[in-house]
Amino acid sequence: MGNNDNLSIIAARIAGWVTRREGKKFLQLKDNPPDPSVPADKAGRDDWASLYVHIPFCRTLCPFCCFNRYLLDEKKAHRYFVNLKKEVEMYHQRGFRFSDVYFGGGTPTVMMDELVSFLDFLKQHFTVRQISLETTHREVNKETLDALKKAGVNRLSIGVQSFDNQLLKDMGRVIGTGEEAIEKLKMAQGMFDTVNADFIFNFPTQTPAMFEKDVATFKALGIDQATFYPLMPSPHKKTRLERRFSQVDTSREKQFYDIILQELFEGGYKASTAWCFSRGDRLIDEYIIDYDDYIGVGAGSVGFLNGDFLVNTFSLDKYDELISAGKLPLVSWRRLSEREHLRYYLLTKLFGMSLDPQKFHQRFHADMNGSLRWELTFFRTFGLVKGNSRINVTPRGMYTMCVMQKEFFAALNTLREKYIEKQV
Ligand SMILES: C[S@@+](CC[C@H](N)C(=O)[O-])C[C@H]1O[C@@H](n2cnc3c(N)ncnc32)[C@H](O)[C@@H]1O
Ligand code: SF4
Repeated sequence: MGNNDNLSIIAARIAGWVTRREGKKFLQLKDNPPDPSVPADKAGRDDWASLYVHIPFCRTLCPFCCFNRYLLDEKKAHRYFVNLKKEVEMYHQRGFRFSDVYFGGGTPTVMMDELVSFLDFLKQHFTVRQISLETTHREVNKETLDALKKAGVNRLSIGVQSFDNQLLKDMGRVIGTGEEAIEKLKMAQGMFDTVNADFIFNFPTQTPAMFEKDVATFKALGIDQATFYPLMPSPHKKTRLERRFSQVDTSREKQFYDIILQELFEGGYKASTAWCFSRGDRLIDEYIIDYDDYIGVGAGSVGFLNGDFLVNTFSLDKYDELISAGKLPLVSWRRLSEREHLRYYLLTKLFGMSLDPQKFHQRFHADMNGSLRWELTFFRTFGLVKGNSRINVTPRGMYTMCVMQKEFFAALNTLREKYIEKQV
């Protein structure tokens, strides 16, 4: 291992540790969240906050999954979509307007009629310009693709994880084979502004050689974009298989990440984030990067508004209960301190590969280099960023940004675990 590699790992460890510690502060939450309101200077505008919509249903549950998801129950899902409209309506009444919408899950396409009706509803209320949506390749067929295109979806993200059938089996991902994933990706490619494929790396039984093969197959397919998630601990711990994914061995992680850098970053793909690599400029899934503020709707979503971190209930029953009572389903919140807010901003922007001093000034009315003096000195000393006015992440810094984001997610997973288990 070269000196540069050692430095990169040391920097990632330090930055990862600090991020996890900062992330844990996010979890010191309070009850009785404030009623969200639009700041006076943003009234009537739809360009300052994005909307995240969580659809927590799946046909089968992957044991490694770290998101809030439940086995599909059509009756419950129907009720859920009715409630989602009511929740959006409540934000609309409070003056919120959105133009960019991101659907995550779960699997947002499990009830296509409901989804299309919900998209129509959004378009009646807002001037929707961009829609990003996640699904699995099992859901993809000609009819679904046509319906999504007609409904105005711009970015379709299809969960692949790996093309290796033995690895898929080890993961407990029972939704189909690698060959089927290839067929569905080919079917979708070209139909949307961006087609993305999600992969996971650093699985216990995954070898770097297996991963290299997955990356090569992705490249050969010519798909627009790939997002590579480092395996993160699962908050679901009921089954033996789920418990297997509650701890993650990080010692091999950089070896996998270097394959991404070599094959994609040095192979002509652009890093849209430290996890996401695109052919040319593409829409990305990271509403936290493009927007400083975002509202989350649905069970298990979180939002960020003017320095307030807002958490919805994770329980389907409680979600139904609160919305039926005409209340927003927010259950917890935290007002970040000035320092926490600055560091959260730094984390999200560097994950998106650059920091813009003008945008920083607009947000904090302060000088970026002064306000983030210590943090930027650390990043510069290790050669992780470059530039004095606009700051860009260097190739050496990318692994650190990957680890920081993962550690922040890991901290959030502690919250997910508690809220799922206790059905908060
Ligand atoms: C939450 S899923 C939603 C999309 C769709 N249901 C699917 O399975 O692809 C989005 C992506 O999160 C990633 N993911 C889920 N659990 C993860 C974990 N424990 N660690 C890392 N990535 C994970 C997977 O790559 C997955 O495709
Ligand atoms: S990875 Fe996707 S399909 Fe699997 S349980 Fe999670 S959200 Fe559902």
